[in-house]
Amino acid sequence: MQDYSVIKEKAFEEIEKATSSAQLVDLRVKYLGKTGEISLLMKNMKDIAPEERASFGKVVNELKTEVESKIQEKDTLLKEIEFKNKIKAESLDITLPGKKQETGNLHPLNIVKNQIIDAFTGMGFEVFEGPEIELDYYCFEALNIPKDHPARDMQDTFYVKDDIVLRPHTSPGQIRTMENKKPPIKILSPGRVYRADDDASHSPMFHQIEGLVVDKNVSLCDLKGLLNKFFKTIFDETTEIRLRPSYFPFTEPSVEVDVTCSKCHGKGCSLCKGTGWIEILGAGIVNKKVLENCGIDSNEYSALAFGLGIERITMIKYGITDIRTLFANNVKFLKQFERR
Ligand code: PHE
Repeated sequence: MQDYSVIKEKAFEEIEKATSSAQLVDLRVKYLGKTGEISLLMKNMKDIAPEERASFGKVVNELKTEVESKIQEKDTLLKEIEFKNKIKAESLDITLPGKKQETGNLHPLNIVKNQIIDAFTGMGFEVFEGPEIELDYYCFEALNIPKDHPARDMQDTFYVKDDIVLRPHTSPGQIRTMENKKPPIKILSPGRVYRADDDASHSPMFHQIEGLVVDKNVSLCDLKGLLNKFFKTIFDETTEIRLRPSYFPFTEPSVEVDVTCSKCHGKGCSLCKGTGWIEILGAGIVNKKVLENCGIDSNEYSALAFGLGIERITMIKYGITDIRTLFANNVKFLKQFERR
Protein backbone atom coordinates (compact mmCIF):
# COMPACT_ATOMS: atom_id res chain seq x y z
CA MET A 1 0.00 0.00 0.00
CA GLN A 2 2.90 2.26 0.75
CA ASP A 3 4.52 1.46 -2.63
CA TYR A 4 1.21 2.24 -4.22
CA SER A 5 0.96 5.83 -3.02
CA VAL A 6 4.67 6.50 -3.64
CA ILE A 7 4.34 5.28 -7.23
CA LYS A 8 1.16 7.26 -7.79
CA GLU A 9 2.70 10.48 -6.55
CA LYS A 10 5.86 10.00 -8.57
CA ALA A 11 3.93 9.09 -11.74
CA PHE A 12 1.56 12.04 -11.46
CA GLU A 13 4.45 14.43 -10.87
CA GLU A 14 6.38 13.17 -13.87
CA ILE A 15 3.30 13.29 -16.12
CA GLU A 16 2.66 16.83 -14.96
CA LYS A 17 6.22 17.84 -15.83
CA ALA A 18 6.19 16.25 -19.30
CA THR A 19 6.55 18.83 -22.08
CA SER A 20 6.03 16.64 -25.15
CA SER A 21 3.83 13.76 -26.23
CA ALA A 22 7.04 11.78 -26.90
CA GLN A 23 7.90 12.02 -23.20
CA LEU A 24 4.45 10.68 -22.34
CA VAL A 25 5.09 7.63 -24.51
CA ASP A 26 8.20 6.94 -22.43
CA LEU A 27 6.26 7.43 -19.17
CA ARG A 28 3.55 5.01 -20.29
CA VAL A 29 6.25 2.36 -20.86
CA LYS A 30 7.88 3.23 -17.54
CA TYR A 31 4.68 2.71 -15.48
CA LEU A 32 2.24 0.66 -17.52
CA GLY A 33 4.50 -1.31 -19.84
CA LYS A 34 5.05 -5.06 -19.41
CA THR A 35 7.94 -4.48 -17.05
CA GLY A 36 6.61 -1.12 -15.88
CA GLU A 37 6.52 -0.20 -12.21
CA ILE A 38 2.76 -0.75 -11.82
CA SER A 39 2.78 -4.03 -13.72
CA LEU A 40 5.59 -5.20 -11.46
CA LEU A 41 3.37 -4.57 -8.39
CA MET A 42 1.11 -7.39 -9.64
CA LYS A 43 4.06 -9.73 -9.43
CA ASN A 44 4.15 -9.12 -5.67
CA MET A 45 0.73 -10.78 -5.42
CA LYS A 46 2.23 -14.07 -4.22
CA ASP A 47 3.75 -12.36 -1.15
CA ILE A 48 0.38 -10.99 -0.09
CA ALA A 49 -1.84 -12.71 2.38
CA PRO A 50 -4.60 -14.60 0.47
CA GLU A 51 -7.42 -12.63 2.14
CA GLU A 52 -5.90 -9.33 1.07
CA ARG A 53 -5.18 -10.35 -2.51
CA ALA A 54 -8.56 -9.28 -3.88
CA SER A 55 -8.42 -5.78 -2.47
CA PHE A 56 -4.73 -5.43 -3.45
CA GLY A 57 -5.61 -6.36 -7.04
CA LYS A 58 -8.41 -3.86 -7.08
CA VAL A 59 -6.21 -1.05 -5.81
CA VAL A 60 -3.46 -1.80 -8.36
CA ASN A 61 -6.02 -1.86 -11.16
CA GLU A 62 -7.43 1.47 -10.02
CA LEU A 63 -3.91 2.89 -9.97
CA LYS A 64 -3.42 1.63 -13.50
CA THR A 65 -6.60 3.36 -14.66
CA GLU A 66 -5.76 6.58 -12.86
CA VAL A 67 -2.28 6.80 -14.35
CA GLU A 68 -3.63 5.87 -17.75
CA SER A 69 -6.26 8.62 -17.69
CA LYS A 70 -3.77 11.14 -16.32
CA ILE A 71 -1.45 10.36 -19.25
CA GLN A 72 -4.40 10.56 -21.63
CA GLU A 73 -5.48 13.94 -20.29
CA LYS A 74 -1.95 15.39 -20.47
CA ASP A 75 -1.48 13.93 -23.94
CA THR A 76 -4.57 15.70 -25.26
CA LEU A 77 -3.31 18.96 -23.83
CA LEU A 78 0.21 18.59 -25.24
CA LYS A 79 -1.03 17.49 -28.67
CA GLU A 80 -3.18 20.59 -28.82
CA ILE A 81 -0.21 22.84 -27.98
CA GLU A 82 2.02 21.01 -30.45
CA PHE A 83 -0.59 21.40 -33.20
CA LYS A 84 -0.92 25.12 -32.54
CA ASN A 85 2.86 25.55 -32.67
CA LYS A 86 3.04 23.63 -35.93
CA ILE A 87 0.38 25.81 -37.53
CA LYS A 88 2.17 28.91 -36.32
CA ALA A 89 5.51 27.73 -37.76
CA GLU A 90 4.00 26.85 -41.12
CA SER A 91 1.85 29.94 -41.60
CA LEU A 92 2.62 32.42 -44.41
CA ASP A 93 2.98 36.12 -43.78
CA ILE A 94 0.59 37.32 -46.46
CA THR A 95 1.29 40.95 -45.60
CA LEU A 96 4.73 40.68 -47.28
CA PRO A 97 4.76 42.57 -50.62
CA GLY A 98 5.19 40.30 -53.68
CA LYS A 99 8.23 40.34 -55.95
CA LYS A 100 7.51 42.32 -59.13
CA GLN A 101 8.26 40.56 -62.40
CA GLU A 102 10.06 43.08 -64.61
CA THR A 103 9.28 42.84 -68.31
CA GLY A 104 11.57 44.00 -71.07
CA ASN A 105 10.64 46.30 -73.92
CA LEU A 106 12.05 47.24 -77.29
CA HIS A 107 14.78 49.86 -77.44
CA PRO A 108 13.45 53.14 -78.88
CA LEU A 109 15.79 52.73 -81.88
CA ASN A 110 14.27 49.34 -82.61
CA ILE A 111 10.74 50.70 -82.20
CA VAL A 112 11.45 53.45 -84.75
CA LYS A 113 13.42 51.13 -87.05
CA ASN A 114 10.42 48.76 -87.14
CA GLN A 115 8.05 51.66 -87.86
CA ILE A 116 10.27 52.84 -90.74
CA ILE A 117 10.54 49.34 -92.20
CA ASP A 118 6.75 48.88 -91.85
CA ALA A 119 6.09 52.14 -93.66
CA PHE A 120 8.30 51.17 -96.62
CA THR A 121 7.39 47.49 -96.85
CA GLY A 122 3.81 48.78 -97.09
CA MET A 123 4.95 50.52 -100.28
CA GLY A 124 6.48 47.33 -101.71
CA PHE A 125 10.07 47.54 -100.43
CA GLU A 126 12.08 44.44 -99.49
CA VAL A 127 14.73 44.41 -96.73
CA PHE A 128 18.35 43.52 -97.45
CA GLU A 129 21.09 43.65 -94.83
CA GLY A 130 24.74 44.00 -95.86
CA PRO A 131 27.92 43.40 -93.81
CA GLU A 132 29.15 45.93 -91.21
CA ILE A 133 32.80 45.20 -92.01
CA GLU A 134 32.92 46.14 -95.66
CA LEU A 135 35.29 46.42 -98.56
CA ASP A 136 36.55 49.86 -99.54
CA TYR A 137 35.22 49.07 -103.01
CA TYR A 138 31.57 48.86 -101.87
CA CYS A 139 31.79 51.78 -99.45
CA PHE A 140 33.59 54.20 -101.77
CA GLU A 141 34.94 53.07 -105.14
CA ALA A 142 31.72 51.68 -106.62
CA LEU A 143 29.80 54.67 -105.19
CA ASN A 144 31.93 57.06 -107.22
CA ILE A 145 33.84 58.31 -104.20
CA PRO A 146 37.35 58.85 -105.51
CA LYS A 147 40.50 57.91 -103.59
CA ASP A 148 41.22 61.46 -102.43
CA HIS A 149 37.64 62.19 -101.27
CA PRO A 150 37.48 63.60 -97.71
CA ALA A 151 34.90 60.94 -96.72
CA ARG A 152 37.72 58.38 -96.86
CA ASP A 153 39.79 60.36 -94.40
CA MET A 154 41.05 58.39 -91.40
CA GLN A 155 39.36 61.08 -89.31
CA ASP A 156 35.95 59.89 -90.45
CA THR A 157 36.26 56.24 -91.36
CA PHE A 158 37.48 53.40 -89.16
CA TYR A 159 39.92 51.31 -91.19
CA VAL A 160 40.33 47.62 -90.42
CA LYS A 161 42.92 47.20 -93.17
CA ASP A 162 43.91 49.29 -96.20
CA ASP A 163 40.96 48.07 -98.24
CA ILE A 164 38.57 47.03 -95.43
CA VAL A 165 36.57 49.46 -93.27
CA LEU A 166 33.73 49.59 -90.75
CA ARG A 167 31.10 50.87 -93.17
CA PRO A 168 30.55 54.62 -92.66
CA HIS A 169 27.11 54.46 -94.32
CA THR A 170 24.57 51.92 -95.59
CA SER A 171 25.05 52.97 -99.24
CA PRO A 172 27.19 49.86 -100.01
CA GLY A 173 23.81 48.10 -99.74
CA GLN A 174 22.89 49.77 -103.04
CA ILE A 175 25.87 48.25 -104.84
CA ARG A 176 25.50 44.78 -103.35
CA THR A 177 21.83 44.74 -104.35
CA MET A 178 22.32 46.01 -107.90
CA GLU A 179 25.13 43.49 -108.46
CA ASN A 180 22.80 40.64 -107.57
CA LYS A 181 19.35 41.73 -108.69
CA LYS A 182 17.86 42.77 -111.99
CA PRO A 183 15.59 45.85 -112.07
CA PRO A 184 12.92 46.62 -111.06
CA ILE A 185 14.47 46.91 -107.58
CA LYS A 186 12.89 48.35 -104.43
CA ILE A 187 14.97 47.69 -101.33
CA LEU A 188 15.70 48.99 -97.87
CA SER A 189 19.05 48.31 -96.26
CA PRO A 190 19.07 48.97 -92.50
CA GLY A 191 22.04 48.55 -90.17
CA ARG A 192 24.80 49.86 -87.96
CA VAL A 193 27.33 52.33 -89.37
CA TYR A 194 30.53 53.78 -87.91
CA ARG A 195 32.26 57.15 -88.01
CA ALA A 196 34.99 58.68 -85.84
CA ASP A 197 32.68 61.33 -84.41
CA ASP A 198 31.47 61.79 -80.83
CA ASP A 199 29.32 64.61 -79.38
CA ALA A 200 25.72 65.36 -78.35
CA SER A 201 24.45 64.80 -81.89
CA HIS A 202 27.04 62.29 -83.22
CA SER A 203 27.87 58.80 -82.02
CA PRO A 204 30.79 56.69 -83.35
CA MET A 205 28.23 53.95 -83.98
CA PHE A 206 24.77 54.78 -85.24
CA HIS A 207 22.06 53.38 -87.50
CA GLN A 208 21.01 54.17 -91.01
CA ILE A 209 18.45 52.88 -93.46
CA GLU A 210 19.28 53.06 -97.12
CA GLY A 211 16.51 53.08 -99.71
CA LEU A 212 16.95 52.25 -103.39
CA VAL A 213 14.47 52.14 -106.25
CA VAL A 214 15.67 51.12 -109.72
CA ASP A 215 13.20 51.11 -112.61
CA LYS A 216 12.42 52.76 -115.92
CA ASN A 217 11.85 56.55 -115.69
CA VAL A 218 12.49 56.93 -111.97
CA SER A 219 12.69 60.68 -111.23
CA LEU A 220 12.99 63.26 -108.46
CA CYS A 221 9.19 63.46 -108.49
CA ASP A 222 9.04 59.81 -107.43
CA LEU A 223 11.56 60.52 -104.70
CA LYS A 224 9.57 63.47 -103.39
CA GLY A 225 6.26 61.57 -103.53
CA LEU A 226 7.73 58.57 -101.77
CA LEU A 227 9.35 60.56 -98.96
CA ASN A 228 6.29 62.78 -98.59
CA LYS A 229 4.13 59.73 -97.93
CA PHE A 230 6.75 58.19 -95.66
CA PHE A 231 7.13 61.22 -93.38
CA LYS A 232 3.37 61.66 -93.05
CA THR A 233 3.29 58.05 -91.82
CA ILE A 234 6.25 58.30 -89.45
CA PHE A 235 5.44 61.74 -87.95
CA ASP A 236 1.87 62.87 -88.73
CA GLU A 237 -0.42 63.76 -91.62
CA THR A 238 0.38 67.47 -91.37
CA THR A 239 4.10 66.90 -92.06
CA GLU A 240 5.45 68.53 -95.24
CA ILE A 241 8.85 68.06 -96.87
CA ARG A 242 11.11 70.23 -98.98
CA LEU A 243 14.09 69.38 -101.17
CA ARG A 244 17.25 71.51 -101.20
CA PRO A 245 20.12 71.06 -103.67
CA SER A 246 23.09 69.21 -102.22
CA TYR A 247 26.04 67.06 -103.26
CA PHE A 248 26.88 63.36 -102.95
CA PRO A 249 29.30 61.64 -105.34
CA PHE A 250 26.85 58.77 -105.88
CA THR A 251 23.76 60.82 -106.73
CA GLU A 252 23.19 63.43 -109.42
CA PRO A 253 21.23 65.55 -108.78
CA SER A 254 21.58 65.28 -105.01
CA VAL A 255 19.21 66.74 -102.45
CA GLU A 256 18.96 67.36 -98.75
CA VAL A 257 15.44 66.72 -97.47
CA ASP A 258 13.86 68.78 -94.69
CA VAL A 259 10.61 68.10 -92.82
CA THR A 260 8.36 70.62 -91.11
CA CYS A 261 9.18 70.70 -87.41
CA SER A 262 7.08 68.12 -85.56
CA LYS A 263 7.18 70.22 -82.39
CA CYS A 264 6.04 73.64 -83.66
CA HIS A 265 4.56 72.53 -87.01
CA GLY A 266 6.50 75.11 -88.98
CA LYS A 267 6.11 78.13 -86.69
CA GLY A 268 9.70 78.08 -85.44
CA CYS A 269 10.99 76.76 -82.09
CA SER A 270 14.19 75.63 -80.33
CA LEU A 271 14.11 72.20 -82.02
CA CYS A 272 14.14 73.68 -85.55
CA LYS A 273 16.24 76.68 -84.48
CA GLY A 274 13.44 79.04 -85.44
CA THR A 275 13.29 77.98 -89.10
CA GLY A 276 10.26 75.69 -88.93
CA TRP A 277 12.22 73.04 -90.87
CA ILE A 278 14.42 70.16 -89.75
CA GLU A 279 17.13 68.65 -91.94
CA ILE A 280 16.41 64.95 -92.04
CA LEU A 281 18.16 63.01 -94.81
CA GLY A 282 20.31 62.91 -97.94
CA ALA A 283 18.95 61.58 -101.21
CA GLY A 284 19.10 61.91 -104.97
CA ILE A 285 18.96 60.30 -108.37
CA VAL A 286 21.62 57.60 -108.51
CA ASN A 287 24.65 58.72 -110.53
CA LYS A 288 24.79 56.99 -113.93
CA LYS A 289 28.37 55.98 -113.15
CA VAL A 290 27.13 53.99 -110.14
CA LEU A 291 24.52 52.15 -112.23
CA GLU A 292 27.17 51.34 -114.84
CA ASN A 293 29.55 50.11 -112.09
CA CYS A 294 26.89 47.54 -111.26
CA GLY A 295 26.26 46.53 -114.88
CA ILE A 296 22.90 48.31 -115.15
CA ASP A 297 22.24 50.13 -118.44
CA SER A 298 21.80 53.77 -117.42
CA ASN A 299 20.06 54.61 -120.71
CA GLU A 300 17.32 52.10 -119.95
CA TYR A 301 17.06 52.47 -116.18
CA SER A 302 17.26 55.22 -113.61
CA ALA A 303 17.26 55.01 -109.81
CA LEU A 304 16.56 57.00 -106.70
CA ALA A 305 18.32 56.54 -103.38
CA PHE A 306 18.05 57.96 -99.89
CA GLY A 307 19.85 57.40 -96.62
CA LEU A 308 18.24 58.23 -93.31
CA GLY A 309 19.56 58.16 -89.76
CA ILE A 310 17.40 56.18 -87.31
CA GLU A 311 18.81 58.11 -84.31
CA ARG A 312 17.88 61.42 -85.90
CA ILE A 313 14.27 60.40 -86.51
CA THR A 314 14.03 58.85 -83.03
CA MET A 315 15.39 62.01 -81.38
CA ILE A 316 12.94 64.22 -83.26
CA LYS A 317 9.99 61.91 -82.57
CA TYR A 318 10.63 61.70 -78.82
CA GLY A 319 12.28 65.09 -78.20
CA ILE A 320 15.65 63.55 -77.21
CA THR A 321 18.39 66.19 -77.16
CA ASP A 322 21.53 64.11 -76.57
CA ILE A 323 22.22 61.07 -78.81
CA ARG A 324 24.33 59.48 -76.05
CA THR A 325 21.24 58.83 -73.90
CA LEU A 326 20.23 56.26 -76.53
CA PHE A 327 23.33 54.18 -75.77
CA ALA A 328 23.73 54.72 -72.01
CA ASN A 329 21.56 51.68 -71.09
CA ASN A 330 19.78 53.63 -68.38
CA VAL A 331 16.77 51.45 -67.57
CA LYS A 332 14.76 54.43 -66.23
CA PHE A 333 15.17 56.19 -69.57
CA LEU A 334 14.44 53.07 -71.64
CA LYS A 335 11.30 52.16 -69.62
CA GLN A 336 9.60 55.28 -70.95
CA PHE A 337 9.25 53.54 -74.30
CA GLU A 338 7.35 50.59 -72.86
CA ARG A 339 4.16 49.87 -74.74
CA ARG A 340 1.25 50.60 -72.44
N1 PHE B 1 25.12 57.78 -97.67
C1 PHE B 1 24.77 59.12 -97.42
C2 PHE B 1 25.25 59.46 -96.04
O1 PHE B 1 25.63 59.14 -95.26
C3 PHE B 1 23.29 59.38 -97.48
C4 PHE B 1 22.73 59.20 -98.86
C5 PHE B 1 22.23 57.97 -99.23
C6 PHE B 1 22.68 60.24 -99.76
C7 PHE B 1 21.72 57.79 -100.48
C8 PHE B 1 22.15 60.07 -101.02
C9 PHE B 1 21.66 58.84 -101.37
O2 PHE B 1 25.35 60.11 -95.38
